[in-house]
This record gives sequence, C-alpha cells and structure tokens, in this order.
Amino acid sequence: TPTSNIRNFCIIAHIDHGKSTLADQFLLKTGTISERDIKAQTLDSMDLERERGITIRMHPVTIYYELGGRKYELNLIDTPGHVDFNYEVSRSLAACEGAVLLVDAFQGVQAQTVANAFLAMEAGLKLIPTLNKIDLAHARPDFVIGEMEQAVFTDPAEVMRVSAKSGIGIEDLLAAVIERVPAPAGDSTAPLKAMIYNSHFDTYKGVVVYVRLIDGSMKPGQRIKMMRTAREYVITEMGQFRPGMEKCDELAAGQVGYFTANIKNIQDVNIGDTVTDAFNPAAEALAGYKEPKPMVYSGLYPVNNHEFEDLREALGKLKLNDSSFTFTPEVSDGLGFGFRCGFLGMLHREIIQQRLERDSELNLVQTAPNVTFEILKNNGETVTVHGPQDVPDAGVIKEFREPIVKISFLIPAGNIGDLMAMCTDRRGTFIRTEYLSQQRVILVYEMPLAEVIYDLYDKLKSVTHGYGTMDYEVLGYRTADLVRMDIMVHGNRVDALSIIVHRSTAERRGRKVLQKLREEIDRHLFEVALQAAIGGRIIARESIAALRKNVTAKCYGGDITRKRKLWAKQAEGKKRMKQIGQVEVPQEAFLAVLESG
Ligand code: GTP
Repeated sequence: TPTSNIRNFCIIAHIDHGKSTLADQFLLKTGTISERDIKAQTLDSMDLERERGITIRMHPVTIYYELGGRKYELNLIDTPGHVDFNYEVSRSLAACEGAVLLVDAFQGVQAQTVANAFLAMEAGLKLIPTLNKIDLAHARPDFVIGEMEQAVFTDPAEVMRVSAKSGIGIEDLLAAVIERVPAPAGDSTAPLKAMIYNSHFDTYKGVVVYVRLIDGSMKPGQRIKMMRTAREYVITEMGQFRPGMEKCDELAAGQVGYFTANIKNIQDVNIGDTVTDAFNPAAEALAGYKEPKPMVYSGLYPVNNHEFEDLREALGKLKLNDSSFTFTPEVSDGLGFGFRCGFLGMLHREIIQQRLERDSELNLVQTAPNVTFEILKNNGETVTVHGPQDVPDAGVIKEFREPIVKISFLIPAGNIGDLMAMCTDRRGTFIRTEYLSQQRVILVYEMPLAEVIYDLYDKLKSVTHGYGTMDYEVLGYRTADLVRMDIMVHGNRVDALSIIVHRSTAERRGRKVLQKLREEIDRHLFEVALQAAIGGRIIARESIAALRKNVTAKCYGGDITRKRKLWAKQAEGKKRMKQIGQVEVPQEAFLAVLESG
C-alpha cells in the first residue's frame, strides 16, 4: 500500500461508551471478519477483560477498505480506557495520526473523554468527534454535542453519528477517517525508525513486539537494535494483525504491525523505545519515552508458608505478559514470607489479584495498598519507600514526601457541595470548576494519591448516585507531615497492618482500624488487646472481650464491600486465617486499614 493510502487511528472513549462494539463493526463492515467469528468481543481477547467488560491491553488490527476506487489500509489501534493505563494510552496515541472521539449520546462527556481528548490533542492527532448509541430512545444528541463543544472545543458541524450496536453510520465514519485523518508522513528510504507501543509473550515465538514504523522498512533477517537498551536482534518474523497474526515480507514507513526476534524476556522490550537498523542506525531515538512506574504497592502472602515458591512461580508467569507489574520478596513478622507487589493503580492491582486467584490454587492474604513515598534523610540521602516496613526511624527523617495528583471529577452540578467537602476532608486543594452545562460541572483538585486510592472512587459513585466520573494524573512529590502508625494485636506488632498516615488524621484512622479489627477478629479464650501506636506512643486502644461459655459464635454485621463479597465467594466458605501470636486473624482484618479512610 502506498503511504498516501494508509490511515492510522484509534478510538478514544470513556469506559462503556462502545469502543469495542465499534471496533467490531469496523471489522464486520470491511469484511475483515465474519459475524460468525465475532465472539462476544473480538478485540478484548483476554478472558478477564471479557468478564469485566473493559479494555485493558491494546489489540491492533489492520483492515482494508475501498473508497472512491482506491483501496485504503486502515490500522486501528485499540487503547485502554482506564486511568491506570494512561501511559499505554499515550503510547498508542503516538502511533496514530487521528482518533475517533466516541461519546455516548445519552451519558455525554465523561472524565476520561476529556482526559483522553486532551492527550490526543497534545499528541497532534486529528479528532473525529462521534456520537455513539444514537439508536437509544433516550439519546440526547444536541445536549451532548453542546457538552463536547464546551469541554473539548468540538465543532458541532464535524460530529458524526453512529450506532455501533445496530451498525448505523459506520460507512460514513470510515469515510470520515479516510478523508480527515492525514496519511502518515515518513520516508521509506531513510534509516529505520520504529516505535514500540506494546508487546506480548508468545510461548512459541517469544516476545511479539508491536511497532509503528516512522521511517525506513523492516524485513525478516534484518539485524535491528533497540536504541534505549542498545540490545541487538535478528528479525525472525514480521506481520500484521488481521486480527490474528498474519505474516508478511516487509513493513515500511507509516505501517503498523509486529515482529518477533527470539526475544525471551518481556522486560527486554521497553514500550516507547525506538527500533533501528543495527548497520544503518537512525541518528536519534524518537522522543517521549517514559518508564511506567508502579504507584501502588501491597504485600501478598501465602496463607501457608510452604506455598511461597508456588506464589513466586505464579507471579513470575503474570510478569511474563505484564512488565509494569513488579514483585520482590519481603518478610513480615506476622505473615512470614511473601512479596511486595507494585501496580500501576488500583484497577491494575485488582486485575492481578483476580488472575492469581483464577490461575493458581493459592490461598493468599493481601495487605492494604499504599503509594510510593520518598524520604529525605538527615544525611542527604533520598530513599524510595514501597511500604511501611521500609520507613526508617523518625529520628533520621528530614522530609517525608508523597505523590500528588491532579484529579478531575465530572459530576452533576447538584453534587458539587458534597464533593468539595469530600475533597477537603482528604487534604485536597481546590483548583477550579468549569460548567459544561447548567446540570454538569468539572471540578479539579490537587490531592495526595494516598487519599485517592482508599475508597474515593466508591465514595464518588455513591455521592453522585453513579453519575460522577473521575480521572487523575500524577504531578510529582510533595513534602507532607507523614508518620508510620503501627498496630499491636495482643502485644505483638503486626507489621502487615502498619500504615503511613498524615499526622493530623492518625488518631482518627487508628481508632477506626482498631474498631474494624474488633469486628473482624473472633473472640478468644482470653481478652485480646488492640493498640495503635506512633513511634512507641499509644494513640488508640480497644479490646475484644474473652469468650464466655454462653457465647457460641460471633455475629458479623455492618457493611459488606464488593471486595469482601469477592473474597467470600473465592474462599468457598473457608476463612483465611493467620496466626499472630496466640490470636487468629482473618484476611479481612488486614484490609481493615482500607476502610478506615
Ligand atoms: P471498555 O472496553 O470498558 O472501554 O468499554 P467499551 O467502550 O469498549 O464499551 P463496549 O463496546 O463494551 O460497550 C458497552 C456497552 O454499550 C455494551 O453493553 C454495548 O452493547 C453497548 N453499546 C455499544 N454501542 C451501542 C450502541 O450503539 N447502542 C446501544 N444501544 N448500545 C451500545
């Protein structure tokens, strides 16, 4: 295909606005795949994604479409719609010249619509504003177009209208992609420059590297070099996704596809890196490389210590296909041998946990998540802290720093008071509000990430009755008055229950944690003392009365969270217990700190 007949684009949308359904329609209408072949969702090929109905990984596809007697090669690059995977969104945007900005014609503009639209504009992409679900009886196209104008500067005359579900307007949208998205600019005769925007591990072929060629060309047998790592390989196979892997002899500037080169380890392939020819290298790498850094950490322990090696193996398998996930061994006094795991965010953490539970028979205890902190010591050394256990003695700490995010909420205007109160409560700093219409408003705050990861999302949903959405980006680290709070169960410090908290909220958090623990831990034959302490000073205490003969069982009551339901289901009646000294502590107790926000 001549470069002038190539179009590279992606679909950006808020979760559930219909991205996967639209991608399926593109495949159907271009004859890339038949109705019969379309399983529930072709592009969301991982089971877990299908179960949860969200797109996590990017699955590209090359489709051919004829318009006005010319045959076009369209490369559709799927993007994840969740904030945890923003880095991947930005990499896939860099592989495109245009984006379909898909908005649900009933729900209207949402937080991720705005966030992704601005990412795309910054990347210089041509946006094609598109209303989806126009088949809905309660669709309100004019209202939603008004919001798009206000939020992302859409020209109403440019808005396309489709129904991905009933196949309405798909051809017109394909034509708009061809007419409005610029053909890639690139020089096939220049030295090779290809951007790696994703990869996956294949048991037979090794790492499959997803690339967008900017300049030059690639063929099997060619010796290539990764510019960031300086590693060299020989290409064994080149191809395109149609949507399965289909081999081809060559890819040239402007095209999108994959290559394999006997790469054994997914960590050797860096998303965002530039591939060049080993003998005729490009002068400089493409800009914009950033290592995705885990921002949320939690401990993962086998209930039975002899399962430690099995857990290591299971984590290693997960890591094969997910280089942004990290794990290192750690020892806890109470929980024994386990791993400290790093995730991009809370959704990433939940996904990994579910995969582990599904793919292995392991019985696990997970500790409450924390963010990554930085500590400047008196001796001038800066250390990164991935968990409360790593916090040095208060005496040597000069500065304690935590990650701050800029968080945007898109909410019904009636909820603005409640939301502002909630943000203030979480150490938020007000930045601005912006009205999209009389009914809906964007509220922007700066806030510690630690305050976001507890249960902010659930709180937002309950305050706004499900209508609010949020998105955030990490701004950097800021000094804060943080301390490590320890929890003692019957005189034993349970390091897995320690948390890093702001001094002003320590006492309140401590009391809440103890109250939760009192609910979760069964009565024993003796009175169980519960204490919260900062550096040896007790700031809160509770106790669980000893069992009396006439008390047969403890009644569980109160609120049951979604997570607990999940674990309850998976535990199949068995309770996960850890022995701390003489006290039996259930898994739920280790998450008590989560609900103490
Ligand atoms: P993520 O993968 O989480 O980003 O979601 P998505 O944007 O891919 O959404 P998906 O395609 O899974 O669609 C979400 C829901 O909307 C599904 O139940 C679809 O059947 C439905 N849907 C998608 N397009 C239309 C449409 O045009 N009309 C109607 N009525 N429903 C639609």
